[in-house]
Amino acid sequence: MADITDYFIDKFRKGLDQDRVDPRYFRPRAYRNAAVRFRKCSIDDFETRRDILIREAGLNAFLFRADMIPGCDLLSDSGTTTMTIEQWAAMMTGDEAYGSNEGYFEFKSQMGETFGPGLVDDDSLGGSSKSLFIFHQGRAAENAFFSVLKNQLQKGNASFGQHLSKDLDRELRERIELKIRSFSGEETVLTESSCIIPSNSHFDTTQGNIENKGMIPLNMPCREHLANDEEFLFRGNMDIEELDNLLATEGARVPLVYLTITNNTGGGQPVAMSNIAEIRKITKKYNIPFFFDACRFAENAWFIHRNEEGYASRSITEIVHEMFSYVDGFHISLKKDGLVNMGGALVIRNGGAFAEKYPDFTEGLTDYQIMAEGHPTYGGLSGRDIKAISEGLRTIVREDYLDSRIKQVGRFGEQLVKQGLPIIRPVGGHAVYIDVDRFFDGRADDGDFKAISLVALMLIAGHRVCELGLYAFGSYNDGVESPPNPRVNYIRAAVPRLAYEDQDLFSLAEAAGILAENRDKIPGVNVDYGRNLSMRHFKSRFSFKG
Ligand code: F0G
Repeated sequence: MADITDYFIDKFRKGLDQDRVDPRYFRPRAYRNAAVRFRKCSIDDFETRRDILIREAGLNAFLFRADMIPGCDLLSDSGTTTMTIEQWAAMMTGDEAYGSNEGYFEFKSQMGETFGPGLVDDDSLGGSSKSLFIFHQGRAAENAFFSVLKNQLQKGNASFGQHLSKDLDRELRERIELKIRSFSGEETVLTESSCIIPSNSHFDTTQGNIENKGMIPLNMPCREHLANDEEFLFRGNMDIEELDNLLATEGARVPLVYLTITNNTGGGQPVAMSNIAEIRKITKKYNIPFFFDACRFAENAWFIHRNEEGYASRSITEIVHEMFSYVDGFHISLKKDGLVNMGGALVIRNGGAFAEKYPDFTEGLTDYQIMAEGHPTYGGLSGRDIKAISEGLRTIVREDYLDSRIKQVGRFGEQLVKQGLPIIRPVGGHAVYIDVDRFFDGRADDGDFKAISLVALMLIAGHRVCELGLYAFGSYNDGVESPPNPRVNYIRAAVPRLAYEDQDLFSLAEAAGILAENRDKIPGVNVDYGRNLSMRHFKSRFSFKG
């Protein structure tokens, strides 16, 4: 019999936040704080921050002391997570044995559970796996991967000719040639052994590691992304037609195809399952291995669950299993969707296209790893770190966690919009990207790098964000500055997992609003040091112009 409590339960349920930005009745976070960290400084210390910024940091956000940031530190969502109490408890049980520690076996079995059957081999005889390699972070895995791949290609005397095929799409050819010039500084000379590594978009360290081995990283974001289509829900997709053309004409030069999920460089945007499946189909047609850069796999799965037809009733874990069933391997920085502060891994599917094509690869990788990181069963991590990862992988696929996280990032984005900031929409999973070209109405000179100023002024306001645009991805050779191609010009506000509340993020949005109102007064910068260096945004120093 319905009574008055039923009446109110019905009212409460209907008032609950489903997807609205201003709900009547907020759905609480899926967790509550179990430990907090007090600030060492106050938001009122504007002059102190200005001094540190100019004198110590040379306007470079990476060089600004974190303990002097009273607001949100959104430099990265990587390694900045607040761990759960279950993770802290698991760390106490870490086994610090030198080889084959207990945590390794738990990790291996958890990787199987998280990513699905067939990827991580279950060698019940014990010992280290031939498919799972631990690293201390993502880029260490990337470096190992491309070092060993280069050795394998050299051993095989790979030779692909000195000219790009005439059947290669003209636009694509120009992009490849530009890429070669941007890092070799020479007029397009392709060598017999030049390889091309395509992706929806490589992250900067992946790009750096590929170039460092003399290979050519090539970004192929989908057209909807390039056209800034705000209605399109999977802007992380790869351009399938371009991929097909590249593999049909220059497939021999492509050792593998990459997909970054979610697409960090392209705005933290998700990739649709249908796009993943199509890439698998094409790579299979040309017999080319297919890999994920899987840092934010769970967030990607949440978007598929929410927005792709046919996936609403599938669990996050089921979706993750399907996503990974298409690939021949992946590397992952566990500092993102591993929910830990340090860790990475590389997985090569036993019997997959990559393992078949490069049969000596895992042996070479084991040698490399022993020399550089330690035995593959700990790979530069302590036993307690490994325990925290296994626990983190169990939490990260919880739908209530992902709901809290991704909707919070969305609300933050909408606050920035309310404050007059142009952002990439729809908002991605881990970060909000401010569109610098639109912010300055296309009126800023590229060479002024005004995004660097904007980030610096945000630091004075008390919050840290990060330039990921003309400076981070452009290059400077022989006195000529080249913007990234395709052009990216963003400032990223990456939200650490489980660390901030809406009030903190809204404070940042309001400070950004003050800058938006005064955008005409924002100066350019002089680059005082490092313009011609590789990965220059980590190292350069600047000063305000004028
Ligand atoms: N791949 C992607 C897509 C990344 O976002 C990152 C790191 C890496 C690889 C490298 O992993 O840091 O563990 O060595 N991204 C961080 C960021 C640094 O701020 O987006 P790592």
